[in-house]
Amino acid sequence: MTGEFKEMNKDELSRTLAAAAARIESESPGTPRIAMILGSGLGALGEEVEGTSIDYGDIPGFPVSTVEGHAGKLCLGRLAGQEVAVMSGRFHFYEGYTLQEVTFPVRVLRRIGCEILLVTNAAGGINSEFSVGDLMLITDHINFLGANPLFGPNLDEQGPRFPDMSQAYDRALQNTARTTAHELGIVLREGVYVASMGPSYETAAEIRMYRTMGGDAAGMSTVPEVIVARHAGMRILGLSCITNMAAGILPQPLSHEEVIETTERVKSTFRKLVLGILERL
Ligand code: HPA
Repeated sequence: MTGEFKEMNKDELSRTLAAAAARIESESPGTPRIAMILGSGLGALGEEVEGTSIDYGDIPGFPVSTVEGHAGKLCLGRLAGQEVAVMSGRFHFYEGYTLQEVTFPVRVLRRIGCEILLVTNAAGGINSEFSVGDLMLITDHINFLGANPLFGPNLDEQGPRFPDMSQAYDRALQNTARTTAHELGIVLREGVYVASMGPSYETAAEIRMYRTMGGDAAGMSTVPEVIVARHAGMRILGLSCITNMAAGILPQPLSHEEVIETTERVKSTFRKLVLGILERL
């Protein structure tokens, strides 16, 4: 579908995974237990990892990020007392990557031993009780991408053909996030994240439909990574930054500038929450 990229078959995928894992393990100061994916404008935390970093371009099979505000490196080392692997910059379906490429790094991070995935994103608020700048705990998602990252042959070494998604976001991790937010005096909203392909923002009618379907926030990422991480048996915690109200809620157009402005504004609260959660894991 993208022309430029092609799906790897099972053997290629398995070999490339092994090569990527070996490359990361040769540089990593420790054995990361927690993988983190930082979304648009939220990548700064990667700089705080005490250890080393590898440019995506230097890791076999890793695509290279094209969006402004996405650095494109894997930071390895310690953060808030934990051994972490932080993806500063992620890949999106709308950039033209296949979902296999979008999620390849998650497979690699699982392969090197990560057990937990902390995934973050910028999202548009659908729930009208939300305000711009709110942080939202993702309690569940709706895959509206029209595709699934596990499409194609199943990599049995990572997980089953038909993985369960009935509790995609780990209950205990959600409780840790709630407790942390409460202790730090941070308001943490909760809700269902709806992912569509983008890159155009939704129409007002689409947002009304998402609300009827049970969606609280709209975005263009996260769901592929979560599906692949769950498939491989990882425990997942998802956090959204509500960077704007979704289409049709306010009488104003949506813009990427607003998204970046909001992430700038809430950066320090987001940082506090994420570090606080890490300390409690
Ligand atoms: N819709 C989709 N993706 C987004 C939005 C939105 O309103 N805001 C930030 N990412």
